[in-house]
Amino acid sequence: MVAASHEVGRERLLGRRYLGLDILFYRQQDGTVIGLEDRCVHRGLPLSMGRLEGDKIVCGYHGFCYSPQGECGRVPAQTQIPPKAAVRSFPVIEKPPFIWPWTGDAALAEVDTAPYYPWLNDEAWVHALGHIHINCSYMH
Ligand code: FES
Repeated sequence: MVAASHEVGRERLLGRRYLGLDILFYRQQDGTVIGLEDRCVHRGLPLSMGRLEGDKIVCGYHGFCYSPQGECGRVPAQTQIPPKAAVRSFPVIEKPPFIWPWTGDAALAEVDTAPYYPWLNDEAWVHALGHIHINCSYMH
């Protein structure tokens, strides 16, 4: 998992390094979680330093605007949008209280196989959430 559900919202864009990839997470207006490559195609600014405009991400540097699918749909002061101007989009599944991205081939995504821990949503159980950085194999 990459984040706890409460860490991803609309007020603050969450940039996180996951399996060597920098990924931006945010929620659309309908609450679904989006995962996009956290690097603008223009000058490489992390998109997590930008802002939301509806369900789109606007880069904080020069204003390139990206759809939730990662396509660049607006370049300020330009009518032509480079056809390859897009960032990678990652399939994401949320099984509260956790969020799981799929970083492999999106066509092969098995997001439904993400683990589910229902007792973490059960008030009869005591638990703590947080994260720590560990330099180790992802299997650990
Ligand atoms: S770096 Fe993102 S628009 Fe220029």
